[in-house]
Amino acid sequence: MAILEPNIDNLKHAVNLIKNGELVAFPTETVYGLGADGFNKNAVAKIFEAKKRPTFNPLILHVSSLKMLNTVASYTSDKIPLLADNFWPGPLTLILKKKEIVPYIVTSGLETVAVRMPNNEIALDLINKLGRPIAAPSANSFSKLSPTTAQHVQKQLGEKVNIILDGGKCDVGVESTIIEVNEVTQILLRPGGIPKEDIEKLIGKLVEPKKNKVTPNSPGQLAVHYAPNLPIQFYSEEKILSLSDLKLGGIFFREGKNLDKFTVSKILSPTGNFNEAASNLFSYLHEMETMDLDLILVERVEKTKLGIAIMDRLTKAVNKYL
Ligand code: TXA
Ligand code: MG
Repeated sequence: MAILEPNIDNLKHAVNLIKNGELVAFPTETVYGLGADGFNKNAVAKIFEAKKRPTFNPLILHVSSLKMLNTVASYTSDKIPLLADNFWPGPLTLILKKKEIVPYIVTSGLETVAVRMPNNEIALDLINKLGRPIAAPSANSFSKLSPTTAQHVQKQLGEKVNIILDGGKCDVGVESTIIEVNEVTQILLRPGGIPKEDIEKLIGKLVEPKKNKVTPNSPGQLAVHYAPNLPIQFYSEEKILSLSDLKLGGIFFREGKNLDKFTVSKILSPTGNFNEAASNLFSYLHEMETMDLDLILVERVEKTKLGIAIMDRLTKAVNKYL
């Protein structure tokens, strides 16, 4: 496996690998993806194997044009082209009716398919040159931290992918927002890189998915996910006092607190900007999980704008260690 700069030769090489049914890790604006030819069942199966991902968890197809969208999915609501117009390329994933050409391994047997157009030159170039959609989950091992640099991918999947195209640090830093919109309903399945408020301004209220199902309708809803290898809890004043013997790492929103109690600490955004905070979140967790610490304490952020996606990821990380 090699980390390669995304020059013309390396892109060609990557496209050929994908054409031959191999996996390539590539940057998107949200997180790095582990990509395979979306129409090749065997190639897609390799994704599940490499990530140790349960096969009931469907993948997103990444497209580079609306024409390509129409080859894989159909819809009747006028809101779909409106959403694509406003938010694509960008961190919004739409759940649509799948067309026959999409193999069931991509959708885990569902009649719907998740589609998005990433806002990243390298990703778009790769899809364009391939001429078909790329199926890609985040390029991490199942339930671990998502990767926002090529080095993060190498750390978790280094042995299992042929090449990692290096696009530097991801701009957005949290995964796409996933919504299911049709004539009957509009559901927010996963908060992410496009704030819920922005979508609601365009198409009206989004509802929460029903929680009473045995299998989640979007397995990103699993309560335990995105977790670092070190125990992580939410920060509070009281907690600090009871943990005096431990080596602590602290992740704060805009300013550090009780810093004398921490071995190391990080600030997500000194100016209190949610976008900046989201773009640093996974990087800081990746950094801390490799340090000699007993526990990471992370400050809660306000649940507004990208703060909703940040709190979703943090809650799922914390749940793992409850
Ligand atoms: O930003 C992102 O979305 C990144 C980059 C690489 O594009 N991808 C990503 O993929 O986060 P992944 O596989 O880690 O998460 C995809 C989520 C999963 O929670 C899956 O359950 C949900 O999308 N999903 C996929 N197809 C679905 C479907 N037909 N219905 C409901 N949820 C679906
Ligand atoms: Mg993921």
